[in-house]
Order: sequence, then C-alpha cells, then structure tokens
Amino acid sequence: MKISVIGTGYVGLVTGACLADFGHNVICMDKNINKIEKLNLGEIPIFEPGLKEIIERNKYYKRISFTTKIENAIKESDIIYIAVGTPSKKDGSANLEHIIDVAYSIGNHMNSYKIIVNKSTVPVETGKKVEELIKKCLQKRNKKINFDVVSNPEFLREGKAVYDFTHPDRIVIGTENNHAKNTLKKVYNVLFLNNTPFIFCNRESSELIKYASNSFLAVKISFINEISLLAEKVGANIQDVSKAMGMDGRISSKFLHAGPGYGGSCFPKDTKAICDIALKKNIKLNIINAAIDANYNQKINSAEKIILEMENSKEKIITLLGLSFKPNTDDIREAPSLTIIRKLLKANFKIKAFCPQGMKAAKKIFANENNIQFYNDEYEAATNSYGIAIITEWHQFRAMNLEKIASVMNDKYFFDFRNIYSNDNNITSIFHYFGTGTVKKKLLKQNIK
Ligand code: UGA
Repeated sequence: MKISVIGTGYVGLVTGACLADFGHNVICMDKNINKIEKLNLGEIPIFEPGLKEIIERNKYYKRISFTTKIENAIKESDIIYIAVGTPSKKDGSANLEHIIDVAYSIGNHMNSYKIIVNKSTVPVETGKKVEELIKKCLQKRNKKINFDVVSNPEFLREGKAVYDFTHPDRIVIGTENNHAKNTLKKVYNVLFLNNTPFIFCNRESSELIKYASNSFLAVKISFINEISLLAEKVGANIQDVSKAMGMDGRISSKFLHAGPGYGGSCFPKDTKAICDIALKKNIKLNIINAAIDANYNQKINSAEKIILEMENSKEKIITLLGLSFKPNTDDIREAPSLTIIRKLLKANFKIKAFCPQGMKAAKKIFANENNIQFYNDEYEAATNSYGIAIITEWHQFRAMNLEKIASVMNDKYFFDFRNIYSNDNNITSIFHYFGTGTVKKKLLKQNIK
C-alpha cells in the first residue's frame, strides 16, 4: 500500500517509520526543508529511542522517503495520514491552521480516490470540516473524485513512541465507511494479527476518545498530586498511598505517580482544548478545569518548596537535574522545570542545570539569563551548589553516587520531586531530604563545608 504522512513531528515521523516497517511504501512530507534535508542525510531531528534504526532499515529497503513537496506526496499515495501540530491558541482552543492547510492541499492536488486518515489530535467535528474543505476544493476544480476522511487518533508517548506504536493497547478507527474501515485494517494488519483490540466507531466518538483519554490521565495525575500535598501535611507517604490505591483493579497503578506536575506537548494542550470544545457547546468541564489549576499549582508548589526550605541557606545556589518534561525525550514544552526555573530566578537563585537531552532547548529559552548555567553531568552541575533537585526521573539519576554528589556540594538540601530516593535508608546521613508527598527528613549529622 502507498501511504504518505504529512508532518514529521513525533507522531508523524514515528507513524511513517513504523508503517514502513510494517511493509508499506511511505512518503514522509514536511514543509520544513531543514528537517527533510536532515532526514535525507540520515539524521533524526528528534530524540526518540529506536527510531533511527527503523528509519535506516527502511531507507535501505527503499520503503521510506522524505520530501517537502506535498503535491507529490498526495498524488503518489492511496492513503494520506495527517500528523501536523495542533498547538494551543492563547484562549486554550486548538489551532487548526496546519490541518486546514493540509486539507486545502489535498483538495487541490488529489487525482484519484484517497483515504485521508487524521492522526493529529483535533477537536470533535474536525473530520467533518476537513471533508467539507476538500469537497469545496474539488468543486472549484470541477472534479468528481471520491474520498473518505477517517479519524485514527494516536496514543503513543514520547520517549516510548516506537514501542507504543507497535504495541498499542487499542487501535481506534472512526469511520462509518466499510471500505475505509477494511483498508485501515489491512494497514495495521501486523497489529491485527497480534490480537491488538480494534475499536470501530463514528468519527466524532474517535475524536473525543483521544481528548477524553488524555484528560482522564491528566486528571489522574493531578488527583494524586493533590493527595501528595495532604500526605506531606499529615505525615503519610504518597508512594505507599498510590501503591495501595493502584492495587485496586478499578483504579490501576498507572499514571498515579506524584511529581512536580505534568508537562509536554499533549496533556497541557489537550486539557485546555477539551474545555474549550465543551464551552462552545455550553458545557463547563469542572473536573478537567480543576486538574489544569491543580497542575499549575503543583509546579509552583515545587519551586516554593525549594525557596522555603533553603531560606536559611548561606547562598541560594541550586542544581536542577532533568529539564525535559519526562525522561528519554529532548522535549521541554510545558515542562515543570521551566516554571520552577522562572520562579527560582525571580527569588534570586543561581541555577546550575543538567539534563541528558533537554539542555539544547533550555539554552535557547534562557539565552539572555545570566543566573542559569548548564553543565556536562550531574556531578559537575552539583559542584559548589547548596541544594540539588531532581525534576525529571532520567535513569542515570536513579543510580547516582550520592556520597560523591554530597562531597562536591557546599550544603546538603536534596529535593527529590520524583521520589526516586524516598526508600533509601541512608539518605538522611547525607542530605536534608524533601520528596513529593513524603515526610521531610533532616540530615542527621550536619557536615557543611
Ligand atoms: C501523552 C499520553 O500518555 C499518550 O497516550 C498520548 O498519545 C500523548 O500524550 C499525545 O497526546 O500525543 P506524553 O505527553 O508523551 O504522552 O507523555 P506521558 O508519558 O503521558 O507523560 C506526560 C506527563 O505526565 C509527564 O510530564 C510525566 O512526567 C507526567 N506524569 C506521568 C506524572 O507526573 N505522573 C505519572 O504517573 C505519569
């Protein structure tokens, strides 16, 4: 089957690469010349484990190619995936500008029957809108060409994108057209044969499933984050609380880890967008609105914890570890680290930062800021600091030599926002320890330089 994928962001590139790996011929299209040049040279513009190998393999077998020419991508394929960004507008609604551009291009260049598959996260009824735009273009061109617009949301997570795409919990296909349904079944034949559950529903349900799923997970995280605030005050340990809660099959342990707040390009954007979609239908989504507020507060609370606990520190120098919104990605969009950094800078802190992948993007954001410096590893970043905070749980921070870290620091404040070391019995012989939703533990024997 000949497939084109419009947009080579996280979703588009992973979709294109994995569909090629399923044996299809795939053209990945992006209007960003720089990105396409890189891809043609074998460079991958995003950090995503396993992706480079898949692209290399499929380039070798000539199953994947890259282009900036949307006209060719449309004409040369039977199925067109739309995987362009739908960022938030200032009012929280989803910006559909890129989707609309692609719909016009399809309408203007389409030469034969196509199935248009929308993978971007879009407000309910966008599929209908895309269909209308394409029809309008065809009418203008005086052409009578059949086509179908299907909704097929993607549930992959950044950092685990390849695994998630190839091992999905479910495939959702929103169409009432049998031909489109059967063709997509063939596209995902590898997964179908592996017994992946398929949900066939109408387009509106499919579009809503994506927003409802992301919002539910965001609510779940905000819920446990709020309980973590209470846990700290009453002397409970949030990890025990969430572990026991998660053992109840009705609740499940996934996405029940307290932390400094959720970030990324999806939860913050999609929670705002679903509230906007509902408002336009005169419905206020109270629970999701509350989760948005709770998440903002969680980021602020994390920064305030540092400010408050280090009030008596001789100097306000702190090391921040992990800037990306989660491990295994270079993405820092809406990352808790950004809110925490801004708040700390306002409180006159000097910041020494390290992140395995997130520094390139962070350096751009804080290019004019003298009070933040970036280092090559956690030990270098900790040198001469008075406090250290783990914001993102990269693997390498789970196995740090804490004695070594402490030995290069000037004071011993340790903020473990991801509770990596909360069960380490030795922690209080080295640090004043502050987790998220755990009782704070004072250093037993102070040994300050
Ligand atoms: C999320 C969804 O999990 C994917 O299913 C969806 O496809 C994707 O959005 C999307 O819409 O494109 P992603 O944003 O890549 O994926 O990352 P997650 O792994 O969901 O993490 C989001 C945030 O929640 C991170 O900041 C993470 O640290 C935080 N989180 C997650 C917690 O604070 N606690 C948890 O228990 C889980």
